[in-house]
Amino acid sequence: MALKPFAWKDKPALIEHLFPVQKISAESFKEQEARQSKTLTPLGSYWKGRKPLILNKACILGSLLPATDNRLRDLEIFELLMGMDSETMQKRLEEKLPPSKRNLVGEFLVLPYKEQVEKAKRPEEISSLLFGHIWKRVNAHLGTSAFSFPELLNQLGVARFGRRPKIADVFCGSGQIPFEAARLGCDVYASDLNPVACMLTWGGLHIVGGRSLNDDFKQEQLTVLKKVRHELNELGVEDDGHGWYAKAFLYCVEVTCPETGWKVPLLPNLVSIGHSVVARLIPDLVRKRYNVDVEYVDEMDSAYISTGSIRSDGPKQESYVYHVVDGKEYRIKIPTIRGDNNGGSSNLRLWEKRDIVPRKDDIFGERLYAVLWTKSENNSRSAEQEFRAVTYADMEREQKVIHYVREHIEEWQEKGYLPDMVIEKGDETERLYRERGWTHWHHLFNPRQLLVNGLINKYTSANFKFAFTQVLNNNSRLSRWNSRSGVGQTASVFDNQALNTLYNYGCRGLSFLDGLFSPSYKSYPILDGLNISINSHPAQRLDVENDIYITDPPYGDAVKYEEITEFFIAWLRKNPPKEFAHWTWDSRRSLAIKGEDEGFRQGMVATYRQMTKMMPDNGIQVLMFTHQSGAIWADMANIIWASGLQVTAAWYVVTETDSALRQGANVKGTVILVLRKRHQNLETFRDDLGWEIEDAVKEQVESLIGLDKQVRSQGAEGLCRCPESTHRLFPY
Ligand SMILES: C[S@@+](CC[C@H](N)C(=O)[O-])C[C@H]1O[C@@H](n2cnc3c(N)ncnc32)[C@H](O)[C@@H]1O
Repeated sequence: MALKPFAWKDKPALIEHLFPVQKISAESFKEQEARQSKTLTPLGSYWKGRKPLILNKACILGSLLPATDNRLRDLEIFELLMGMDSETMQKRLEEKLPPSKRNLVGEFLVLPYKEQVEKAKRPEEISSLLFGHIWKRVNAHLGTSAFSFPELLNQLGVARFGRRPKIADVFCGSGQIPFEAARLGCDVYASDLNPVACMLTWGGLHIVGGRSLNDDFKQEQLTVLKKVRHELNELGVEDDGHGWYAKAFLYCVEVTCPETGWKVPLLPNLVSIGHSVVARLIPDLVRKRYNVDVEYVDEMDSAYISTGSIRSDGPKQESYVYHVVDGKEYRIKIPTIRGDNNGGSSNLRLWEKRDIVPRKDDIFGERLYAVLWTKSENNSRSAEQEFRAVTYADMEREQKVIHYVREHIEEWQEKGYLPDMVIEKGDETERLYRERGWTHWHHLFNPRQLLVNGLINKYTSANFKFAFTQVLNNNSRLSRWNSRSGVGQTASVFDNQALNTLYNYGCRGLSFLDGLFSPSYKSYPILDGLNISINSHPAQRLDVENDIYITDPPYGDAVKYEEITEFFIAWLRKNPPKEFAHWTWDSRRSLAIKGEDEGFRQGMVATYRQMTKMMPDNGIQVLMFTHQSGAIWADMANIIWASGLQVTAAWYVVTETDSALRQGANVKGTVILVLRKRHQNLETFRDDLGWEIEDAVKEQVESLIGLDKQVRSQGAEGLCRCPESTHRLFPY
C-alpha cells in the first residue's frame, strides 16, 4: 500500500536524529581525494571547494527519510541506501580488486571502515550494480514500494510534502548539490550570483546528467579543431614549412638592468625548458642583451637548477634580477625596478586597452625564448619532438601573429570572441595592476593565445564551452611552464585560487590543446520529466518556494569566486550560447556575500530569512560550512536566529586530509546544521546558541579523532547520535 500524501508531514527527519558521521567522513574524504576522476570535476577543474556528492546524498536522504522509534533499523536502512552496509561494501571491494585477489575480500571486510573505503570503489562508480539487493528491506521498513532512487524519493516527498520533493541550493557553485538531488530523482531549483557557477551547474545536469554521448563531443571537437587548424595553416604561424608543428612556445619577461643597461631575460633556472634540456644565456656584448641557446644535456646537473637570472632571497623571499657582466655580479630587486617604493608613482606603465604586447620602453618586456616542435599536426605522442632556440623565421611568425591580432582585435572584441573587459580592482585582482600594469582581462593572454583561444571561442557551442574554459585555464600568461612534467607542459592558472603573475610561462600550440579539448565526461542520465531550473540571481532575491534547502554559503576568507571567475566571464559574457544567454554575465561583485563583517552577516540573514519564507512550515534546511575560527560559531548562531530558524541537529564531517585529522580540534571539515522554522519563542540567548553549536561540534571532532574513548567504545551508534546539547536546547 502506497504512503498517503502528508502521512509524515510532521515527522522528524532521520538527519535530525542520526547521521553516521564517521562513515560519511571516510566516504567524503575518498571522493575528495579522487580529484580529476570526481564525477563533475572534468567540467571545470578550476572550481575549488566542491562539496562531495556522497555527503550531499546523505543530506538529501537524511532530510527525507523519517526518524522512527527503531533507531538501529533507521541506521541500517540509511546505510543500505548509501552503499555503506557490509554486503554492498563486499561488492565495492570485489569491483576494485583484480580477479586474482578477490578471494581476499573477506579479510578486508574486518578492517576499520576507513581502510575498507580506501580499498573499494566509490558507490557512485558502480551504482547500477550496487542497490538491487536493498529494496525489499527498504520497503519493508518504510512502507514504500520503490525499486529505484527516483521512485523512493518521490514516495518520501509525497509522504512529507504531498509531491515529488523540491530541493533547492541558492549558492549552487559548481552544482554538486543540485546534481545529486536530480540524480536521486528530485525536482531542483539551483541559483547562484555567478554565471560561471550557473554554467557549471548546467553542465552537470545537462552533460553528465544528460543523454549526450561522448561520441557527439568527439564529433564537435574534430569539427572545431579542423576549422581552427585551417585558419592557422592559412596564416602559416604554427608550422615551420618543413613538416614540423609548434607544440609549445616558451616566453619570459625581459627587464633592462638599471645599473648596466643590459636586457636580461628572467628565467628562474636554466632548466626552464624541458627534461634534459637547458637554456644557456649567451651574452651579446654589442647589443647588451642575451641570446638564449637550447642545449640537450646527458645529465641534469644541480647547478642548472640553482642558477637562474631571477632569484629570491631574504626573509620576505623578495625576487631579484641576477646577472654578471665583465665578471661583476649585479643583483637588483624587482620592487626597485618596478618602483614599488617610489611613494605611489610606480615605474610600471599601465597597459591601454589596445596593448597586446609590452611597448619598447616598458620596464617589463616579453620575449619568446624557445619552441617545442613536433612532427605531427595532432598531438601524437609517438611523433618526434624537439626543443629549438628561436630563429629569425620564428620571429617573423611572431610578428605575423601580432599584426593579425592587432588588425582583428576590435572586431573580435565587438563580436565577443575576445574579452574587452576592464579588470576591476579587488583583493585578488589588484596585483595584476601592481605587478604587471595589466588593466584589461585580455592582457593576461599573449597574441598567440588571443588568436587560438579566440578562434576556439568563435566556433564552440554550449556543450563545448566547458572544454574551452579548460583551454583558457591552461593557455594564458599565467600558465606556468612545468619543465619536469613529460616533455614539459603548462600548468593550470587555477592550480591554486590566486592569479599569480609569472616571469616565464608556456603557450600551447593547437596540437597541444587537443587533450584539453577532447573531454571525456561520465554519464549519469537523470530521469526525464524532472523540473530543473537554473537561475542567476542574488540568493536574497529568491522568489520560488521549495521544500528543502541544502546550502553551502560563502564564508570568511574562502575562495574569491566573484573576482577570479572574471577570468572566464570576460571571455564568455558578450557572446554566450543561447542556453546561457539568460544569465547575467557579470560577477556582480557588490552583491556577493563575502568576508566576515557586518555586510556578510546582513547578506546571510537576508538570504536565510528569504529561504525560510519560501518554504512550507514543515520544510527543512541543511546548512553546511567549513569549521574555521571560533568567531564563526557565534556569527552563525546569530544569523540562524535572525532568520527565524532553529537548529535541530549539528553534525561534523571531516572532508580534508589525514594530516588535518591529526591537528585535533582545529581540523578542517564541514559542519552540517539542520534547521527548521522557529515556531515558538525559545528562551535561549543567541550567544548561548553559538557555544552550544561549538560544543556539539567539538564533541564530534573528538570522537572522530579518537580522543573521546567513551563515545568510540559505544561503536557505530555512539558516533552517529545527535549531540545531547543540541537536543537539550531544541527539543523537536
Ligand atoms: C562555497 S560556494 C558553493 C560551492 C558549491 N556548494 C560547490 O560544491 O561547488 C558559495 C557560492 O556562493 C555564491 N554567492 C556568493 N554571494 C552570493 C549571493 N549574494 N547570491 C548568490 N550566490 C552567491 C558564490 O558565487 C559561490 O558559488
